[in-house]
Amino acid sequence: MCHLRHYLARLRFVYSLNCFPFGPRFNWRGIQPSTMKFRKMGLKANTEDFRLEGHKFRILGGSMHYFRVPRAYWKDRMLKMKACGLNTLTTYVAWNLHEPQRGVYNFKDNLDVEAYIRLAGELGLWVILRPGPYICSEWDLGGLPSWLLRDPKMELRTTYKGFTDAVDTYFDVLLAKMVPLQYMKGGPIIAVQVENEYGSYATDSSYMPYIKQALLSRGIGELLLTSDNIDGLMKGNVDGVLATVNLQKLKPIHISSLESHQPHKPKMVMEFWTGWFDAWGDLHHVFNAEEMANVVMEILKKEMSINLYMFHGGTNFGFMSGAIQSDMYMADITSYDYDAPLSEGGDYTTKYTLLRDIFSRYHGESLPDMPGLYPKMNYDISTVYQYITLWEALKFTEEPFLSEDPINMENLPFNNGNGQSYGYTLYETIVTSGGTLHPNDKIRDRALVFIDEQFIGILKHNSVEMVVPDGKGKRKLRFVVENCGRVNYGKELNNQRKGIIGDILLNGTPLKGFTIYSLEMQSSFIERLRGAQWKQIPEKPVFPGFFRGILYIDGYPGDTFVKMPGWTKGVLFINGHNLGRYWSIGPSKVSICQGHGCNVGSTM
Ligand code: GLA
Repeated sequence: MCHLRHYLARLRFVYSLNCFPFGPRFNWRGIQPSTMKFRKMGLKANTEDFRLEGHKFRILGGSMHYFRVPRAYWKDRMLKMKACGLNTLTTYVAWNLHEPQRGVYNFKDNLDVEAYIRLAGELGLWVILRPGPYICSEWDLGGLPSWLLRDPKMELRTTYKGFTDAVDTYFDVLLAKMVPLQYMKGGPIIAVQVENEYGSYATDSSYMPYIKQALLSRGIGELLLTSDNIDGLMKGNVDGVLATVNLQKLKPIHISSLESHQPHKPKMVMEFWTGWFDAWGDLHHVFNAEEMANVVMEILKKEMSINLYMFHGGTNFGFMSGAIQSDMYMADITSYDYDAPLSEGGDYTTKYTLLRDIFSRYHGESLPDMPGLYPKMNYDISTVYQYITLWEALKFTEEPFLSEDPINMENLPFNNGNGQSYGYTLYETIVTSGGTLHPNDKIRDRALVFIDEQFIGILKHNSVEMVVPDGKGKRKLRFVVENCGRVNYGKELNNQRKGIIGDILLNGTPLKGFTIYSLEMQSSFIERLRGAQWKQIPEKPVFPGFFRGILYIDGYPGDTFVKMPGWTKGVLFINGHNLGRYWSIGPSKVSICQGHGCNVGSTM
């Protein structure tokens, strides 16, 4: 199982474009999103079947997220989607990436969602857009920007003004880009989802109507959908919007609930979970391929539409993976392979083959050829030969912030008043004695604790106490706190502030007088580290530290796997890009990078 991938800016395609988005069973063939000039009627859900341009149409969809797949591979993955017999691409939009600071937008490069949707259209795929604002998706805070949590009264996913104002401003920008890409404007977007599984949250009955209106008032005119699991099906739906259901095993209750809630309407499984995600320290999830194929056949036999979640999962690059909170907090891994039909590295799987066979029966023509695969390269060992300690790297961070009390990372005065979003925060204070530390459940999520440079232990959620060894004079008590990912699902969304979120007691007295360093690991910081005095790695290096090596590549670089034997936990950077976390507890066994020359890794 691989967990990190960084891909090449190289495209090799073997494909044919003689495919049709509609099969004969749908009575209407040969019209591609890109070539269809005259459009009178978009997707309609007024009868038992969907109708597009008045013709019976079955959605055979697959989810794939532009933010989890390097742009250089978008086309390849979409062609593989077409060759599998799918006619529709379904994508979320990740608000936290597009608006990293309030009012500062990024829709460039890998975040060019307009280009992504246009490309899908050009290749003959329709698009279902899932713009959130909340998307869940094992993505930090379900895609909501962390700066929302600066407001201590914030109530995410409600009509609390602090939330809706931020949604409105973001939707003004996002939807202005999406409106021209709709079906009736000549684009490939045939449907738009209102929020995501609100039925499982449902704390404010005005919220879904608000989001629906936010879409309509900004010019979204295509079919609107909601998507919920069976328990939330009714609660998550809103007047005039088609409810769809999410599942992995089709049960009679799915059909009967859809029928009783909305008789004589098309039935759709918006998320058929082809696999499942993994969390650090947990077992790797696998969903048997034959079982999966059987459920797909059952769904199709019932004349339902389907969307595979995921068709191709990709990677939670950087610090973007989310977390779950049930009995305990568990952070999601970097890989979003998902055991999906197309693997994280873009390879075909048994599931893909089975699905292609199934979906081919729903097409009049034979399916397009399957595009060729990229070879995986086997490079020589990259020797990691230089390092600096974390303590030496501190002079390359932004000025530390001095505060009497500990402050959670979102409320720190970094990033132009938007706080720190991701990564690590170092909290330092002076102590003059040893004793017993009580973290008071205020550590989010994992702290390495030091006296000066001496490591004394790890604190996590719910850790009870820790002994601080006695010593003379003034010593620094240091907490290197890692935000391991914000919970993306459930009722705990408002409680996702990270760092040290309240008083920590030493011998019963709250620690005071902190110096706080932000270690968000942005590329500007990694770049500045180049100017550090890198040393040869001694036999016993001081941890945590930044370690660097060079990967030499002859010729054009190709995709490769990184094995990190002996490395316990940290983050891997390639040429300044944060690929994501590695951790020997698994379930990921190896990481994948790709050779522009690996130059810095850190171990914390
Ligand atoms: C739900 C959500 C998705 C995703 C899946 C699990 O259905 O809507 O975003 O989190 O669960 O992978």
